[in-house]
Amino acid sequence: MTDLADIADIGADARRGGFSRHGYDRAELELREWFTAEARARGLDVECDRNGNLWAWWGPPGDGAVVTGSHLDSVPGGGAFDGPLGVVSALAAVDLLRGKGFRPGKPFAVVVFAEEEGGRFGVACLGSRLLAGAIAPDAALRLSDVDGVTLADAMRSAGLDPTRVGADAEALRRIGTFVELHVEQGRGLVDLGAPVGVARSILAHGRWRISVSGEGNHAGATLMVDRRDPMVAAAQVVLAARRSAAAVDGARATVGRLIPNPGGTNVIPSSVDLWLDARADDDTRTRAVVAEITALAEAAAAEEGCTVTVTEESYGDTVIFDPTLRDSLSEALGGVPALPTGAGHDAGILAAHVPTAMLFVRNPTGISHAPAEFAEPTDCAEGVTALARTLETLAR
Ligand code: GLV
Ligand code: MN
Ligand code: MN
Repeated sequence: MTDLADIADIGADARRGGFSRHGYDRAELELREWFTAEARARGLDVECDRNGNLWAWWGPPGDGAVVTGSHLDSVPGGGAFDGPLGVVSALAAVDLLRGKGFRPGKPFAVVVFAEEEGGRFGVACLGSRLLAGAIAPDAALRLSDVDGVTLADAMRSAGLDPTRVGADAEALRRIGTFVELHVEQGRGLVDLGAPVGVARSILAHGRWRISVSGEGNHAGATLMVDRRDPMVAAAQVVLAARRSAAAVDGARATVGRLIPNPGGTNVIPSSVDLWLDARADDDTRTRAVVAEITALAEAAAAEEGCTVTVTEESYGDTVIFDPTLRDSLSEALGGVPALPTGAGHDAGILAAHVPTAMLFVRNPTGISHAPAEFAEPTDCAEGVTALARTLETLAR
């Protein structure tokens, strides 16, 4: 909690509430410095990999390491726990283990993954995706933020060499097992009355950009019958997302961002970009929801005399975490429950390559990606104890 309090001023967003910390922006760079200093103060050796992820090694680096950690960036106006709780808990677990005289019997690292939320460049889990080869380097480097700054520019400004990004077999080989502790992002543990749980699965999910083009014109001088207003079509896409997801068991669809161009109160926009986040239990259901929303968007655009294009910006299939690891962790922690999650994580990207597990800490509000996200100090302490016990077993 002291560590979380230490960083509470970094990226605090007075306008939106909560925190806005995005890959390689001033706040995230300050958090990286904070992490580096904290790790070094513990005698850990910190290095940055080719894809901007930070690794703090307890002892010499090597293949097959026990790795724990999370991310320090946030969504716009996010909570204090999503990401940072996993990082500070990793450091606290190292303190706890060291305090009882434990020394890892194999390579051991705390990791901070870059741009997990995709809050700046649009693609979530960018650092782990690049490392794992789950996104092409060229495509990643071309991603740009709202000001037109590309990932390549941002990395260069941060002192990194963008020509070196991409699949990193060496870094991947170094991960023997990855365990990410995370605040729970729903009410699963609250309902079960448990402070800590393990992850079972992650929904299939992705992001799509829907661009609607019409005719820019004057809000007062243009008769209603003469309009080709992309905002009217966009509004129907928002409603279609709600309807289509509601019709599929367990599916979710959200339009959380919409940008009219040019964006004036007295201007009929010439185009509107909106972003769809869609998730469901499996690929088939997720694709079916997106296909239906796409069809409805096309019909709504045609009715308004507009055109629409739908572009998939990222996608990941359902993740089932390593059942053997999950069950052994749950048992070692006294039979804690295993829960599915609707949220994406770097652990979900790595799960395709190495045995991966997640620990969840109860969130009494059940709210996440918003300032009300919370975890009680006593539950955070339970989380650290559980993480330390897990790491001790894995790194013995
Ligand atoms: C990340 O937290 C996501 O699920 O989008
Ligand atoms: Mn998140
Ligand atoms: Mn997270």
